[in-house]
Amino acid sequence: MQQGPQAKTPVTPADDPEVPSTAISRRQFVTGAGATGLAAATASRPLQARGPASLAGDGTPEQIHLTWGADPARTVHLSWASPAAARNPRVHVRTAAGGTERVVRPDERSYTDGLNGQTVFTYHATLAGLEPGALVSYSVTADNDRHTHRPFSASFRTAPVGRAAFRFTSYGDLATPNTGWALSSPQSRHAVAAVERFEPLFHLLNGDLCYANLNPHSQPDVWADFGNNVQASAARRPWMPCTGNHEIEFGNGALGFDSYLTRYRLPDNGTPFPGCWYSFQIGAVMFISLSADDVIYQESGAFVPGPEPLLPAPRTGNAPIVPGSSLYLHGYSGGAQTRWLADTLARSAAAADVDWIVVQMHQDALSSSKHGNGSDKGIRDAWLPLFDRYGVDLVLCGHDHDYERSWPVRGCNHDAGRDAASGAPVDTRQPRPVLTAPPDDGVFDTRQGTIHFILGGGGTSSPVDQYGADPLTGRPQAKVITRRNAPRPGASPGSFVKPGPDALEEAIWSARRDTDSGYGIAVFDVDPGVPGGKTSITIAYHHAPGADREPNPHYELFESIVLAKPRRDVP
Ligand SMILES: [Fe+2]
Ligand SMILES: [Fe+2]
Repeated sequence: MQQGPQAKTPVTPADDPEVPSTAISRRQFVTGAGATGLAAATASRPLQARGPASLAGDGTPEQIHLTWGADPARTVHLSWASPAAARNPRVHVRTAAGGTERVVRPDERSYTDGLNGQTVFTYHATLAGLEPGALVSYSVTADNDRHTHRPFSASFRTAPVGRAAFRFTSYGDLATPNTGWALSSPQSRHAVAAVERFEPLFHLLNGDLCYANLNPHSQPDVWADFGNNVQASAARRPWMPCTGNHEIEFGNGALGFDSYLTRYRLPDNGTPFPGCWYSFQIGAVMFISLSADDVIYQESGAFVPGPEPLLPAPRTGNAPIVPGSSLYLHGYSGGAQTRWLADTLARSAAAADVDWIVVQMHQDALSSSKHGNGSDKGIRDAWLPLFDRYGVDLVLCGHDHDYERSWPVRGCNHDAGRDAASGAPVDTRQPRPVLTAPPDDGVFDTRQGTIHFILGGGGTSSPVDQYGADPLTGRPQAKVITRRNAPRPGASPGSFVKPGPDALEEAIWSARRDTDSGYGIAVFDVDPGVPGGKTSITIAYHHAPGADREPNPHYELFESIVLAKPRRDVP
């Protein structure tokens, strides 16, 4: 959509139309315990900004976050941060079976924020050699932990091996509960509690984690508030993230991902871009997490609209970032990600122990949001043919802060779109639905087509649960971005704006849109079935009614669908 300059916000998003212009000056410090108790009970610090002077010597673990290792049945990574460098940081690990306690030493990774000069210290311990499906207890501390007498402790469960039943959840676009930050909302605390309510084995956090890049002078503090909110769940079960456009920050590495990449240890992808994309298998499900900024056409990274430059703190030594500057990552991997994806999909499709392929990415190939971003043809060009070829079952996205489910789609119609300005025909590669009504038995067979979900209702202050409609026919209509929308001079001197999507198409692929709430969580229950039978995934989307107007901790079922198909181990 058309983005105008923000009066007091020096960096604007391309996808978030309702960033308050007073966001940075309207600092409100929110304190409070975590919604679910456990993590907040010990190490969580209050949600508030703090200056470097208050951090000296404090090695207390915070922002504690689990991720899967390469083999989720046996390896889990434990990551955390501390206000200052930790002395002798360590994890004490014990299994419920009563095994002896062992101590695991983490690696330290740090970076210095390129905009405010604050150094962030993070720690990453690899807990390897675990038993499948085991309950593992741990505590994490350091010699300069303020809580050495009662260090943070929690437990988690490793993944099962073989074909097994398990649950996972997903949403993106979470933000923080500290409403002093742009796009943050109290709903983000309720969203974390919702994950705990459903007790999944793990959670997929599909990008736009905390919107630190909209608070350019306080990026590390926003990340800290995010991490301490998420800790209430992520210390108890892995939260597997992917990069969104709001992980792209000025001053933090060539791609702007340093804040993100420094904080998490993710399965290796064997390329020069560790942590940007990855895969892991649990039971008979292959999960593939992608970095769509590499292929999308839209400009949605950090952007300086002017007329004032963005001024890094003098102590960084970094130069002013001039109006009109933007971070555009299209093609950043030089094709490495798409080659990796094709190889990973080919192996998954040929593997007898993989029944399902689930892809997570942030931006959307199929979205008909009216005020959000819409659909990006870059994903349709680069990846949808691979999803067709190798039979991807589900694609889980965020980016538009709403809920939308597609029909199963396979292939595309050419020249079915039209230019938003001239009306001339445009090839948007309109995805072709394989059915446009629920199956007679109510069960979807994703061997026929891939179902896309928009799950962007984590916890931002900017829901966009209004959807496009053709003004003449009333049928669902989608905006489509088919080319780069680089910043161009705006109406006022020295200002810059980004053009909106350039094309429109009939959203013949759209099956269900939630107009009641821009907030929700999807719950996926995988049933492996029995040899000779079918395997299924039951998907239940729960939303928070009324949360567009008032934060709501009560999530209710919006809709549920079932996918089923024969197991791959049966000839
Ligand atoms: Fe977002
Ligand atoms: Fe986004």
